Amino acid sequence: MNPPDSARARAEALRAELLHHNYRYYVLDDPEIPDDAYDRLLRALQTLEAEYPELVSPDSPTQRVGAEPLAAFAEVEHRVPMLSLDNAKSAEELAAFAVRVGRALGREAVDFVAEPKLDGLAINLTYEDGVLRCAATRGDGRRGEDVTAQVRTVRSVPLRLRGSDWPRLLEVRGEIVLPTAGFARLNARMRESGQRTFANPRNAAAGSLRQLDPAVTATRPLAFVCYGFGAVEGGPACATQYEMLQALRDWGLPLSPQLERVRGLDGCDAYQRRIGALREQLPYDIDGVVFKVDALADQETLGFVARAPRWAIAFKYPAQEALTRVEAVEFQVGRTGAVTPVARLAPVQVGGVTVANATLHNMDEVVRKDVRIGDTVYVRRAGDVIPEVVRVLAERRPADAEAVALPAHCPVCGADVVRPEGEAVARCSGGLYCPAQRKESLKHFASRRALDIEGLGDKLIDQLVERELVHGPADLFRLDQAQLAGLERMGEKSAANLIAALDRARSTDLARFIYALGIREVGESTARALARGFGSLDALMAAREGDFVQRRGVSGIGPVTAEALAAALADAADPAPDAQPVDWLLGLGVRGLTRPRAETLVEHFGTLEALRAADAEDLRAETRSLIEGVGPVVAAHLVAFFAQSHNREAIAALREVGVHWPEQSAAADDAPVEPEARPLAGRTLVITGTLSRPRPEIKARLEALGARVSGSLSGKTDYLLAGEAAGSKLTRARDLGVEVLDEAGLEALIGGAG
Ligand code: IVH
Repeated sequence: MNPPDSARARAEALRAELLHHNYRYYVLDDPEIPDDAYDRLLRALQTLEAEYPELVSPDSPTQRVGAEPLAAFAEVEHRVPMLSLDNAKSAEELAAFAVRVGRALGREAVDFVAEPKLDGLAINLTYEDGVLRCAATRGDGRRGEDVTAQVRTVRSVPLRLRGSDWPRLLEVRGEIVLPTAGFARLNARMRESGQRTFANPRNAAAGSLRQLDPAVTATRPLAFVCYGFGAVEGGPACATQYEMLQALRDWGLPLSPQLERVRGLDGCDAYQRRIGALREQLPYDIDGVVFKVDALADQETLGFVARAPRWAIAFKYPAQEALTRVEAVEFQVGRTGAVTPVARLAPVQVGGVTVANATLHNMDEVVRKDVRIGDTVYVRRAGDVIPEVVRVLAERRPADAEAVALPAHCPVCGADVVRPEGEAVARCSGGLYCPAQRKESLKHFASRRALDIEGLGDKLIDQLVERELVHGPADLFRLDQAQLAGLERMGEKSAANLIAALDRARSTDLARFIYALGIREVGESTARALARGFGSLDALMAAREGDFVQRRGVSGIGPVTAEALAAALADAADPAPDAQPVDWLLGLGVRGLTRPRAETLVEHFGTLEALRAADAEDLRAETRSLIEGVGPVVAAHLVAFFAQSHNREAIAALREVGVHWPEQSAAADDAPVEPEARPLAGRTLVITGTLSRPRPEIKARLEALGARVSGSLSGKTDYLLAGEAAGSKLTRARDLGVEVLDEAGLEALIGGAG
């Protein structure tokens, strides 16, 4: 059917709107609409295209994923070679570069474009008539690999350029990177599923892009940052690198937020220092900064040597990896009893910080990386993540290197260490009898996002547990001032303050309380979903697996077997009247259908007739979460947690000492629920952009609602309150996964309080 003009016009309008919002989001870092409104527009377009497939165009924002897996990458020749950069490893070498350039151009103060040197993968994007036609890796600089289908899945790469004055042919140069936060999440995921982890974000970006199946690339949070151009045919004339970059930006290509124009050596030097100090806070790994002579005519004058331009240089920062020796491996016990191997290292400088300990994550990782005591290893640190051992230099292994063994007993309490089959993590079986687990769970219970007991720090909890003043969380609320004042580093005043803080913490909300219990894999957002879904703690405690997840189909039958079986059932001749159902099924010769599974199937369906009427959907095992974030594993943790008598007793004890929260069922039954006067207690907010009232006023109000207002964003920030013209903080918040609120969102959050 030919789509009506109205549908065609609507699809065009939706695409133009989506293009505009992509630009606001990825390039200007200043979205006009929230994410769900964007998703609605995208879904509207998807629906329209589903109805009229003729309307689908390759540059439609709906067409990012969808290409079939490739057999191999094709080779692509770059129209203009992709060069590399000379390095300056010291301020002196940078000065020598500036002097060289100044001399060659016969000028003192040369203007440079300055940007961070992102540690990712160089990519060339070819746009023809404004549409992305090809994306290729750098390769040997002349020819690279065609990764178009993979790069299309990167959301910050425009599939079509904005505006209309773009060159007929345009090669865009830039870097594909994996933000540090996404890298940590990806590796955690790989580790959990027993796969090899990536050594650093650059390897992870390269590995993600070099996936033959673009659907895999699409699951990786890659980003693109543009820093230059290759072949350009047509389009506006630009005299400088900076102008050209601004044009690229207008066409929808994201530039580095730290892009600047600087003057002379002094400008370069100041820039290098400034970005160096900022390095840890950037959402991406950078290994230096790049300076490029700004005037394109000057670039031409300077030309090239070998494969690097004379008009550009990379100033390198100290590496975020260093070599050192593993002196010992010790095991730490966490809140849930997880026994984690930690390498004690000969102290070494990594990216400007001394590192003496690094995590080895779990025993599978120790085996996979084959780390032994005495080995020389690479350690890596970046941003605020825990340093880790990346790999061993096997050629430097001493003859007496010692293998690492998982201890049979907990190093803290002596209970057995157990490692359930199929799990990477070993655990101390001492439960809350283990002082290490007790300390860690109390620290979690008191932490900011849990009950937020101000002044109850880690050291204090260690003392309370060691002196046996506190066994379970309820004991905290039974402490008196005299007991507290007798502890190290505690005066009368701080003891009194802590008693007052404990008193405040008694009144909390259900989500915080659930989170504070420290149930395995129940983080803050899952705790919130549970509180919303169940309304009261008693309802949650009484829940069974089926209240969290719904199972359908036949356990053990995966999608592939289900398809094969459904096809075989459809083709099969009628069974003989006396046929034995299980044997008849096995006689179909379906791969993966074992006798126990066939027995389960017959039991599940009852009769062969019912079974023969089933399609693949009915057959395949599937679990559906009824509560956001709760799959079968978390459901099992929840049920097991509330089934244990010591946990039920601990909860009863907490209620007894007066810990309370408003519950939904209570709200419905007996009306007056204590109003939550400090809904932002324990939350940290950062403010950015222009708001409807002066900042100090807003800050004071937030503080009155219990919030801490901080000047800088980190992984510990709960919310970013963003006003008009919010800039880099907004991007950083997104990269860190910090929730962003506008003023209306804030009002909704505090629900009329204050
Ligand atoms: S310019 C002629 N700018 O560094 C200029 N490169 O050693 C060629 N890189 O392969 C590159 N950030 O992958 C340039 N802001 C930046 C960069 C950058 C990272 C990488 C790029 C290139 C390598 C050069």
